[in-house]
Amino acid sequence: MKRTLMAFLLLGGLALAQADGAKLYAQCAGCHQANGQGLPGAFPALAGHVAEILSKQGGREYLIKALLWGLQGQIEVKGMKYNGAMPAFNGLKDEEIAAVLNHIATAWGDDKKVKDFKPFTAEEVKKLRAQKLTPQQVLEERKKLGLK
Ligand code: HEC
Repeated sequence: MKRTLMAFLLLGGLALAQADGAKLYAQCAGCHQANGQGLPGAFPALAGHVAEILSKQGGREYLIKALLWGLQGQIEVKGMKYNGAMPAFNGLKDEEIAAVLNHIATAWGDDKKVKDFKPFTAEEVKKLRAQKLTPQQVLEERKKLGLK
């Protein structure tokens, strides 16, 4: 009985400590849509596209940077041009950035399309946060990936 209670408390504590990526995604859905399909020409799709980014060398770091500092300038996603502005989310905590990235990586099966996907961690976000990039610099980082 005591052991059950301990396990219960432990699990409850873990759940509380973990940021809820699906809930946080509500902040993205107005633009990228609940189903991750985006709005062609205005907001790029994330579903299927996250796998394209993750499969590039440096793609994982790029995703963290785009979330932290936003992105501005012309890009192409699935044959469609975008020239909008992705807002910076550096007001979110490290674990929240990691959680929302894990959500967009897993919600539509993108994690299954890349080799050895490992969940994003708060530590990874913390390391990159020190860089303080501008949305234009994030665009330069994107160009290095070899995406369109
Ligand atoms: C106000 C609308 C808006 C919101 C809110 C928003 N985004 Fe974006 N996002 C954009 C736009 C527009 C772009 C493309 C920017 C460009 O054209 O340079 C983008 C780009 C991205 C990219 C990079 C895609 C690529 O190919 O480089 C990712 C990843 C992304 N958003 C994830 C998110 C996540 C996760 C959230 C929520 C935490 C979010 N966005 C919230 C509008 C938004």
